[in-house]
Amino acid sequence: MKPLSSGKYILGILVVLAAVAGAMQLYLASAEKTLTVKEARQTFEQLGCTSCHVEGGVAEPWDEMLDEIAFWARNFETLDEAVRSEVVYLGGKKFNSFNELMEQMRKNVRASQDDIAPLTQFYLDYFEQNKATATTTTTGQPQQPAQPSGDTGMSRDVVLAVVGSALLVVIAVIAVGLKRR
Ligand code: HEC
Repeated sequence: MKPLSSGKYILGILVVLAAVAGAMQLYLASAEKTLTVKEARQTFEQLGCTSCHVEGGVAEPWDEMLDEIAFWARNFETLDEAVRSEVVYLGGKKFNSFNELMEQMRKNVRASQDDIAPLTQFYLDYFEQNKATATTTTTGQPQQPAQPSGDTGMSRDVVLAVVGSALLVVIAVIAVGLKRR
């Protein structure tokens, strides 16, 4: 193999840089899907859920809601079951599933499906994470609710990012190789 000329070398570097940028985009896009507690709370406030879910309002405030979901995780197999058994909406209305409840909540604030989806996913993750903490304990002591930090989605994101960069680097190598002919 001949050494690359400087022009090709620079081209190679540029392509690799583009690959890294692409991989970072991919990472950011996938990381966006798992909201942290802070982000979820911000979304909750921005969507206007706090018009009812507030101290002294018709529904419980954010912190109490998270405590309740942590409690459900210890006492119910699924979020659907917990919602069916525990949630009584205005007018005594009951919901058959968590999705049905969230659909009602979405309509309450006239949010779009896209706006509500990350929050729905957050609640599901929060339930599952608290379930995991509840079942790994042997002491029977009350558990601190687990705080989803976004870290759980991280390993998958890293894998995605690595696969993405590897693919792009391969493309870069092929591109440089083609240029040399
Ligand atoms: C019109 C008032 C109202 C609005 C607006 C509203 N909710 Fe609710 N929500 C309720 C009521 C009432 C309940 C059931 C009783 C309770 O939780 O205190 C409830 C229950 C819930 C529950 C089940 C857990 C729980 O606390 O019982 C979740 C989760 C929830 N709401 C999320 C949301 C989200 C997310 C939004 C914004 C997109 C929202 N809500 C907007 C009134 C509202």
